[in-house]
Amino acid sequence: MCDDEYTPPRPDLTERQWLDLDDSIVTTGRPAAEPVAGAAGSGVGRRTVLGGAVAGAAALALLPQAAQAAQAARAASGAPVDKFPLPSRPGPGGSYAVLVTGDAGTGNEAQYAVAEAARKVCRTEGVGLAIGLGDNLYENGPESAHDDEFHTKFEKPNTGIDVPWLMVLGNHDCSGLIPGSGGDPSRGDREVAYATTSRRWHMPARYYSTALPAGPGRGAPVVEFFAVDTNPVASTVTQLDPYFRWDGPYMREQRRWLDSALTASRATWKIVIGHHPYLNNGKHGSAGSYDGFTIGHYTSGVHLRELYEEVVCGRADLILSGHDHTQQILEPTKRSRGTRQIVCGTAGKKGDGKAHDDQPARWQDFGQHGFMVMKVSTGKLTIDAYTVDVATATATRVHRFTSTSALRARS
Ligand SMILES: [Fe+2]
Repeated sequence: MCDDEYTPPRPDLTERQWLDLDDSIVTTGRPAAEPVAGAAGSGVGRRTVLGGAVAGAAALALLPQAAQAAQAARAASGAPVDKFPLPSRPGPGGSYAVLVTGDAGTGNEAQYAVAEAARKVCRTEGVGLAIGLGDNLYENGPESAHDDEFHTKFEKPNTGIDVPWLMVLGNHDCSGLIPGSGGDPSRGDREVAYATTSRRWHMPARYYSTALPAGPGRGAPVVEFFAVDTNPVASTVTQLDPYFRWDGPYMREQRRWLDSALTASRATWKIVIGHHPYLNNGKHGSAGSYDGFTIGHYTSGVHLRELYEEVVCGRADLILSGHDHTQQILEPTKRSRGTRQIVCGTAGKKGDGKAHDDQPARWQDFGQHGFMVMKVSTGKLTIDAYTVDVATATATRVHRFTSTSALRARS
């Protein structure tokens, strides 16, 4: 089991209440709900010392200062960065090949090994797009839009996977006082800002959609991805900022956007990508009963379950999530109305174990690092699941899932 995830003693505590109950927690050293300081360098030196600290220190020693300075200068000047282009046509096999990773941002040996193994597979499979399912920067998220961890925990390990990465916000990216609490969603704004300076990192907003093929005048998309921010309705603590409350304006706006975007989409395959899973046999369990909590507005994830069931289920073919450090290809359920849950959160951490078995599974692995490669054409969607041997940075394909029937075609 991962030992660096904190579970509150009671649901829906404020971070301060939680800390008053448990003084063994190492905090992020910043005031709760502190406004985001967008300027470079803010908060540097307050990095929390947790499990990843040794690897983080080693990575800092490798930081190319000149590259960081050039990037910061480019951002400050407002000069556009030369982004890797979204695919405008399918790969050699007639499908769009997409790398799927989650919970990658440890900066440790495992992240680098998984990325190296994925890089080789991406070359042979013609991958033109990648997805990062959140917890992009452990343990606390970025200290600024120019945090060096964007380099050591994303750009450097993923060198050679030179495609756009559709990124979503995880609970660690939005830490407040407590690492991984999701208690300061505004921290995610730094990851949106970082996207303007990175060739890989694609996050035009906190939630957004991306359709393939990209570009004007290409007809109905083959696939469309809907990136959602699940944190305000799945944080382990109560949100203090009224804007990010579970029933506040941010979640109301996001829900309206997601509903209308799914309705408007003409894509054959519709895929929602968000950090926290709807269904899950792993440690954290399913939305509505996360970590064993079934009451309150936040810790249980009950309002995320509502969002999935009322807006997504029966309309999207897949929900891709991380958060649990496992890989799962689950079967659709009666409540999901044909929508299938995929969990892929093993790019930097592993070993969360199997805590639940109430969701029927096509295939699942609870012990290995790994990633997935999805291939999408109008008539077929396949998902190859890979496990990775960290010592040799070698990937092994362990399962292939195939679907030839999109929800759109069945309705
Ligand atoms: Fe997470």
